[in-house]
Amino acid sequence: MTGLASAGHFYENLLHLPLSNVKMESISGEKTGMKKLLFQLDTDSIPSSFDGVVAYDGGADHLLTFPNMNPDNVEGIAHGAIFTRGGKDKQNTAIFVGGSNLAQGEALFDAIQKIFFSNFRVSVMLDSNGCNTTAAAAVAKITSLGSIAGKKAVVYAGTGPVGQRGAVLLAQEGAEVILTSRKLDRAEAACQAMGQRFGVSLTPMQVSDPASTQAALDGAQIVLAAGAAGIELLPEAMWQDSATLEILADINTVPPLGVGGLEMMDKGEVRHGKKCLGGLGIGSLKMKIHRAAITRLFEANNQVFDAGAIYALAKELA
Ligand SMILES: NC(=O)c1ccc[n+]([C@@H]2O[C@H](COP(=O)([O-])OP(=O)(O)OC[C@H]3O[C@@H](n4cnc5c(N)ncnc54)[C@H](OP(=O)(O)O)[C@@H]3O)[C@@H](O)[C@H]2O)c1
Repeated sequence: MTGLASAGHFYENLLHLPLSNVKMESISGEKTGMKKLLFQLDTDSIPSSFDGVVAYDGGADHLLTFPNMNPDNVEGIAHGAIFTRGGKDKQNTAIFVGGSNLAQGEALFDAIQKIFFSNFRVSVMLDSNGCNTTAAAAVAKITSLGSIAGKKAVVYAGTGPVGQRGAVLLAQEGAEVILTSRKLDRAEAACQAMGQRFGVSLTPMQVSDPASTQAALDGAQIVLAAGAAGIELLPEAMWQDSATLEILADINTVPPLGVGGLEMMDKGEVRHGKKCLGGLGIGSLKMKIHRAAITRLFEANNQVFDAGAIYALAKELA
């Protein structure tokens, strides 16, 4: 037995001692209303207040918030999550990984799961900058408007956390996905990283001026604009006469919007013959998914919410 495993048995036995032997307020969450604790591990120096609010709205009773988290400093905190509650009570503890950098979030998320062993685990969720919940909402909304299999989808400014996950989900739905960036090497790095993690094939493209913006759109049926807040990526004049475009989605909610001529509240409104989705049209589903995922973290101690599980939830709720 490894040192960790034997320590695990020690803790597990301790957690099942009668109350008279262990000074704990409760052993059974159901009987005593054991608090649902969410460990909010953020890769940034200031943990996301947005994620904190949604954690409470999703059913957490208390948040333990940790900034500057990375694979090298997470072990003790993960042990605090897995060695403190036993049996069914363990599902009252869960871990949320957030922050603005997706690669750092993924590394932390993976490191946490490597610390888990046998039943010494709690449910975990990755949502750096809302990457999974927002992308899942956007793609679930897109697919609710029509089939995208075999169609060309362009993810403009797809190098951010949301765009990368959005590109993955579109590809998993059978679309041929172009992921753009102002810098080709950034687009290539994002396509390679998502390809490695999810086994999807994404095509990188540099889009840095009107000509390349228009070239990316040629022959496309689907657009997902995933750029930074307040940046117009695709002016109305460029898409309104497209003969191929069917669905146009934009997740930016800060004016000017990412796609000109679209409204923030659009939930499938037809403009120039194309079905449109705006940032708030997508955002209401995103909030539902994010809250529901938090709720579900506390339903078992072994759930892993990354892109796939969160997208499945999105399909259920869309
Ligand atoms: N609707 C919702 O519910 C919801 C929820 C969460 C987030 N959001 C929004 O979703 C969007 C994407 O979020 P994110 O965190 O993935 O975005 P992000 O990382 O802030 O930005 C995405 C990409 O935008 C590009 N970009 C930045 N400045 C630009 C500029 N001046 N001109 C052109 N491109 C520029 C960058 O790509 P390159 O440098 O590679 O070109 C960047 O990687 C944001 O607008 C965010 O506010 C919406």
